[in-house]
Amino acid sequence: QSEDQKRLIDIHNQVARLYHHILVNTKLGEHALSYLHSRGLDDETIDEFQLGFAPQENLLQPFLKQREVDQQLMHASGLFIERDDGTLSDRFFNRVMYPIRNQAGQTIAFSGRVLDKQASQAKYLNSPETTIFSKRDVLFNLDKAKAAVRTTKDVILFEGFMDVISAFQAGVKNGIASMGTSFTDQQIHQIERITDHLEICYDGDEPGQKAINRAVDTLAHARLKLGVIQLPSGVDPDEYRKQNGDEQFQKMIQTARESPVTFKLRFLKLHRNFNRDEDRVDYLNDALAVIATVDTPVGRDVYVNQLVDQFQVDKQLLLDQINGIILNNR
Ligand code: GTP
Ligand code: MN
Ligand code: MN
Ligand code: MN
Ligand code: MN
Repeated sequence: QSEDQKRLIDIHNQVARLYHHILVNTKLGEHALSYLHSRGLDDETIDEFQLGFAPQENLLQPFLKQREVDQQLMHASGLFIERDDGTLSDRFFNRVMYPIRNQAGQTIAFSGRVLDKQASQAKYLNSPETTIFSKRDVLFNLDKAKAAVRTTKDVILFEGFMDVISAFQAGVKNGIASMGTSFTDQQIHQIERITDHLEICYDGDEPGQKAINRAVDTLAHARLKLGVIQLPSGVDPDEYRKQNGDEQFQKMIQTARESPVTFKLRFLKLHRNFNRDEDRVDYLNDALAVIATVDTPVGRDVYVNQLVDQFQVDKQLLLDQINGIILNNR
């Protein structure tokens, strides 16, 4: 890390402390604090993740000036936006602040969430790319998950950082999340350095299912053992915990696990009408291509039997087609 990068990290650590202080100790933060409580987060969790609040007022420039941070560094921090007249104003205001940490636990960026969703505003606003923050490289909570993985052995990939924080409060401390972007090779390598087993637990809505499907494909060539934790439809992990409690949440995380192939065989059924011959044929062709990726004959047999049961098709035909696909892919 260069001197400037060290200074930028120091700035972020101080600003995180300021936002946290405003949230937990001041009148300005009261509304945001009760918002977080109403979402089921307790004070211990709010402290653990150093959650904060950025009020309406511009406060970072005087705060940083007092600490002898020069104008150039303020620019480079990403914490400001430049007005047309060249003056700076705080990028984040009226938002609940989530510090984003690197693997070493240093704060390198923020994400801010609006309290009351208005159509005109993005729900989450992230820091821009800076010399210390590259969105595609960061995995939220990787520093804490790294410690937890010694006992859990696996890491759980969630869609949103609210899910990671919520799971953490329920005792599931090995959660990570990307910054709302799709999964990158760089992130895969970071995960591979701490574990050989990744479970994907995205939202139980259609975008979530599509994102699982993409992540499974991206991870197909990683060295990781992969699993999917399937939520009931319509809820995300945080909502599930709120509705069912910590204990049930932990149980779901342990038991709702399935193989990526089982996930894909169900995913391929979406928007297909099995009363139509065409849809049944398309499904079977797609399903066989998925089963062909299973690397043992016994493994393939388990899934082929499911298709035979569901579609009353000839097993030998299915096996022939799978073997054809395997030969072709070789
Ligand atoms: P809550 O509504 O606070 O529970 O958020 P969530 O974690 O359920 O978020 P959601 O499922 O809507 O989205 C998952 C992730 O996508 C979030 O954690 C963000 O990283 C990202 N995301 C969602 N909305 C936005 C947005 O408006 N802007 C940006 N930049 N990212 C977003
Ligand atoms: Mn505190
Ligand atoms: Mn979602
Ligand atoms: Mn969600
Ligand atoms: Mn949510």
